[in-house]
Amino acid sequence: MWQRLWNRWRRSPAPAFLIAVYLSLRWRCLVSPAATIRFPFNLVIGKGSRIGRSKIIASGRGIRLGERFEMGYGAVLDAQDGEIRIGDDSGVGPYVVIYGEGTVAIGDYVAIASHSTIVAANHKFTDPQELIRLQGSTARGITVEDDVWIAAHCVILDGVKIARGSVVAAGAVVNKDVVAYTVVGGTPATLIKERRSPVEVGGASLKEMQKQG
Ligand SMILES: CC(C)(COP(=O)(O)OP(=O)(O)OC[C@H]1O[C@@H](n2cnc3c(N)ncnc32)[C@H](O)[C@@H]1OP(=O)(O)O)[C@@H](O)C(=O)NCCC(=O)NCCS
Repeated sequence: MWQRLWNRWRRSPAPAFLIAVYLSLRWRCLVSPAATIRFPFNLVIGKGSRIGRSKIIASGRGIRLGERFEMGYGAVLDAQDGEIRIGDDSGVGPYVVIYGEGTVAIGDYVAIASHSTIVAANHKFTDPQELIRLQGSTARGITVEDDVWIAAHCVILDGVKIARGSVVAAGAVVNKDVVAYTVVGGTPATLIKERRSPVEVGGASLKEMQKQG
């Protein structure tokens, strides 16, 4: 019973207004009193960040946000049993949802536009005689490197790595790794174009790199 009470207190130790004031002073950032924050002691926020009317659940191994991070209204970061890490100068738009059951690691200068979903987990469904909800799940984790733009309404699936400098066009479903400095789009996402010459990204042709990947 004490464990249950302790967990409940860690989840929500004070009214939202007080939690917003505590986090704003503790991390020198701006947390809206209209934000819903759960497990605030498991949350690290970089200096100068702005957390709007959104929801952060820092359960599991918690959530670590870099400096000058911006979080739009209606966005949700939920670490579940895992972890979410976001670098400096990154931002998530309105109604973006990120679940960190497998670790979600996002780099610096990453822009994630409205209504995109990053879910580092999949339900198992191999046994047709068992309810899907009772079969458990897998969680491999998702990595988004620096300087990536994920446009509106994208879905990033578990196990994917989106490499530095790439763009995911609006509405894409990304189920495979994305090579650095490329633009991908569609469902499932495929290469639309390369952003830089292969020499600039390290020698090998991007298409070759994608084949190898
Ligand atoms: C990808 C995007 C940036 C356009 O980039 P671009 O370099 O100007 O690309 P182009 O418009 O020249 O299109 C290149 C090809 O990609 C295709 N394409 C463009 N956007 C696409 C999309 N969202 N999904 C699938 N294919 C797309 C085009 O049809 C074109 O194909 P084609 O050569 O066979 O005709 C733009 O289409 C997009 O998705 N913008 C996102 C807007 C957004 O979400 N804003 C949120 C605010 S942060």
